[in-house]
Amino acid sequence: MTLIPVNLAGNGYDILVESGALNNAAQHLKDHVKNDRVFVVTDTNVSAKWRQPLESDLEKSGIKVISHVLPAGEQTKSWAVLEQLTDWLLDEGAERSDILIALGGGVIGDLTGFAASILKRGCNFIQIPTSLLAQVDSSVGGKTAINSRAGKNLIGRFNQPRFVLIDPLVLGTLPDRELRAGYAEVVKYGLINNAPFFEWCEENSDKLLGRDPDALSYAITESVKAKAGIVAEDEKELSGRRALLNLGHTFGHALEAETGYSSDLVHGEAVAAGMALAFHYSARRGHCTETDAARVERHLAQAGLPHSLDSASVKASGERLVQHMLHDKKMTGGNLPFLLGNAIGETFLADDVDLEDVAAFLDQAE
Ligand SMILES: NC(=O)c1ccc[n+]([C@@H]2O[C@H](COP(=O)([O-])OP(=O)(O)OC[C@H]3O[C@@H](n4cnc5c(N)ncnc54)[C@H](O)[C@@H]3O)[C@@H](O)[C@H]2O)c1
Ligand SMILES: [Zn+2]
Repeated sequence: MTLIPVNLAGNGYDILVESGALNNAAQHLKDHVKNDRVFVVTDTNVSAKWRQPLESDLEKSGIKVISHVLPAGEQTKSWAVLEQLTDWLLDEGAERSDILIALGGGVIGDLTGFAASILKRGCNFIQIPTSLLAQVDSSVGGKTAINSRAGKNLIGRFNQPRFVLIDPLVLGTLPDRELRAGYAEVVKYGLINNAPFFEWCEENSDKLLGRDPDALSYAITESVKAKAGIVAEDEKELSGRRALLNLGHTFGHALEAETGYSSDLVHGEAVAAGMALAFHYSARRGHCTETDAARVERHLAQAGLPHSLDSASVKASGERLVQHMLHDKKMTGGNLPFLLGNAIGETFLADDVDLEDVAAFLDQAE
């Protein structure tokens, strides 16, 4: 069992990583439960596999469980579903002192965390992330949001959970493709600032993708520590430190936008190709070697992830892809910041990137 603190002044919390923790949920969560009840929000897929074990353990300990099952999928992060969820909570008599539990992937976590931040001016919530992406990324750090007509995650709040319970064994039922997509964000932590962890990924990705519990636990723990550390330094993305977490995301968002945010290319897949492009672009600018860029690409390919424009099936012109980047919310004052690499494990934020040069690079990239 590993307990990772997120050190924030006034709203810090712990993240537990433990195989089998879901079956002992009551023991881990009881200190946070008020009114002897919890409101569990989940989606159809996760409900079918994991709602019952959670509920039965909580109810054995005298904690009443009131559950709401939402449709699985990104479209659940919408105003309409937020309204439906908050209406349901109010109908059920939820109080400010109650606690919501998000049991699911990033969609359920983001929506539930946002609902908790506005229900009766704010109640508490706990994350029980069930996808690899949610376990290593979205459940940590307190970003919560829904999507709007203008784009993804544009309506939301920083709202830290009270506790995060991560059980790697729940990944046993996660579809293969979702596991791989989450793995891209794991590799990201190695590339950002931890070269030994990237090496570990190179040596252990087969085990991890084969759902070896030890490999999963280790990778999740390292990832959560890395994210918690960065979030503690820059909770609200003010200093630029937290922006390091966006490695591969500017290129990635362009690919996602080009494929219409469809199931042709899911987020983690776009990030994988985006990270390979970011390193190749770094090599073009002379920051890192071509050898490093090729090594990043090779590992992502070995993990069965898109690692280039071709493998992501994106054929758009460089200019068009740059236009997509300009619509990204991370634009600040007309300048598009790019995460680039001096080497594997040494990334930095560059704010002097010439977008015409990026377009020319993408036109030549394969
Ligand atoms: N808040 C943040 O900091 C942050 C960071 C990254 C991503 N996100 C958000 O997270 C979302 C993506 O998260 P995601 O990839 O987890 O998507 P998701 O929540 O849609 O989950 C992916 C799919 O896996 C299913 N699933 C989840 N756990 C399962 C399990 N254990 N067994 C079987 N099926 C399971 C879900 O039902 C869904 O179909 C996006 O909306 C993104 O914007 C947020
Ligand atoms: Zn991401």
